[in-house]
Amino acid sequence: MARFGNKDAKAFLFPTRQIAARCVSFVKARAPPAVIASLDTVTLVLDTTKQVPEALASLSPVIAAVFCSQEAFPFLKQYWQHSGDGVSSRRAEFCHSLFQDGLLCLEDVGAPQPPTSPKPCRGPKRYQRGSSVDMTKTTPSPRPGAGRDAGTAPEVQETSRFLEERFGRNLDVSFVQPARSAIKRRIAGSLRSDSELTTTPPPENEMASNSRGVVNLREEDVYLFPCGMSAIFNSHRALLGARGSMKSIEFGFAYVDTLKILEKFGPGVVFYGNASESDLDNLEKRLEDGERFLALFCEFPSNPLLSCPNLARIRQLADKYDFAVVVDETIGTFANVNVLPFADIVASSLTKIFSGDCNVMGGSAIFNPNGRYYAALKRWARTEYEDTYWPEDVIFLERNSRDFASRIDRINANAEAICDVLRECPLVKSVFYPKYNQSRANYEACQLPGGGYGGLLSVVFRNREQAIAFYDAVDTAKGPSLGTNFTLTSPYVLLAHYQELDWAEQFGVERDLIRISVGLEETENIVNVFKAALRVAEEDAGSQK
Ligand SMILES: Cc1ncc(COP(=O)(O)O)c(C=O)c1O
Repeated sequence: MARFGNKDAKAFLFPTRQIAARCVSFVKARAPPAVIASLDTVTLVLDTTKQVPEALASLSPVIAAVFCSQEAFPFLKQYWQHSGDGVSSRRAEFCHSLFQDGLLCLEDVGAPQPPTSPKPCRGPKRYQRGSSVDMTKTTPSPRPGAGRDAGTAPEVQETSRFLEERFGRNLDVSFVQPARSAIKRRIAGSLRSDSELTTTPPPENEMASNSRGVVNLREEDVYLFPCGMSAIFNSHRALLGARGSMKSIEFGFAYVDTLKILEKFGPGVVFYGNASESDLDNLEKRLEDGERFLALFCEFPSNPLLSCPNLARIRQLADKYDFAVVVDETIGTFANVNVLPFADIVASSLTKIFSGDCNVMGGSAIFNPNGRYYAALKRWARTEYEDTYWPEDVIFLERNSRDFASRIDRINANAEAICDVLRECPLVKSVFYPKYNQSRANYEACQLPGGGYGGLLSVVFRNREQAIAFYDAVDTAKGPSLGTNFTLTSPYVLLAHYQELDWAEQFGVERDLIRISVGLEETENIVNVFKAALRVAEEDAGSQK
């Protein structure tokens, strides 16, 4: 801020100039002129006039900032929140160090350079506090001396040390590409082993068999994003680019930002909050009457009610009336359900169970090669898709996801055991879980052989006091994420829909709902944790009689 903005300015960071420009366009379309006048953009890239080690250059560190006034801040925040296209903390930390060390410069050729810090490189010392990388896990073996260049200028040596200490010790940059590729093959359902990464290319025939039921699916059909929201946002953007400006449909009550994306970017959305057969009848009638849509977006199952739409019927309507189907499989996960044959795009938040460790975010979108819009989507991707997934995040996600398939079995079993305990409790009004919901048959139509019902469930108590007593007593981590390797309980509706509680209730999403994301604990232990919390709620109910 001191270098480029003014002391009262605020800033949002983005991974590329193009994304920062999209943020500015979004704000310009909404904000009053005085707010727009406060916007300014700066993009910083590696200063190639400095002698920098090859390893650093190959990372192509970029960071873009949109500066704004306090009044403009809420407008920028909307873009940042809904699009998911902000920077990861690892990219921010890394670029910040380069910036302080004078190794970043303005991207604009010929633009005036700000004065660089007079201080010598301070990066290495700061990072001597140790790496954020978990050294207890198996990692691609570091390449001693990576980036080291004996006999070069002290500045380059400092940079090399900085890179090694912050990055190279845990990461040989030559592993980034194989890690990206392994993640994509894992998502495509073709890489099932959890073996160590190598730089040797995968066998040619590896993609020939996959659990997605789409034999011609290739690694190149899987696109990575820095988080799940970015995958959904960019899937919508891709469809607008490939098909032109048309309204979308959100089918079912989904994760909060998905509806916001469809409302605020493009010509709007028709929202069906119940995802029922009668909603589909209504949609069919509109289509028969000549209305046309860009795409139908849905979750399988949905967050937080875990309901599943009838994908087979949706597919038939899409084929007949020419719209795309985008399925968010985050909660079901491709270890339990296979939705790709019904979808044009399958989006997913890899931040959740795929990672499990909750120390990295990620997202993916698969373009179904048999989809009607595949060629148009691929054309769009060739010019518009930017891989902004930061290399260090790639390495984390690859490592975390190696045992994804084996973690799912335990999580499925634990979730069912917790459901049993909750369903037996007289204080509980309803338990939402794919196995017990009315839409169970829709879930089972996509369930994989050996797949379970997933790790997410929601519970509503008959009475608020007991919900509070239960929530306060339940001895799990409390927080709004899901898919962590440990159990996580949250008053989800209050957190995600606080400004629209009455609206959410119209769709059966009650304000006192408690969402439970089930982890990998020993089944007996985690069941006892829930039994104990229910006992406290029962005592509370008893004392109120
Ligand atoms: C179903 C679903 N999709 C997408 C997202 C967004 O994912 P991310 O947090 O990786 O941006 C979430 C987040 O909770 C989610 O529950």
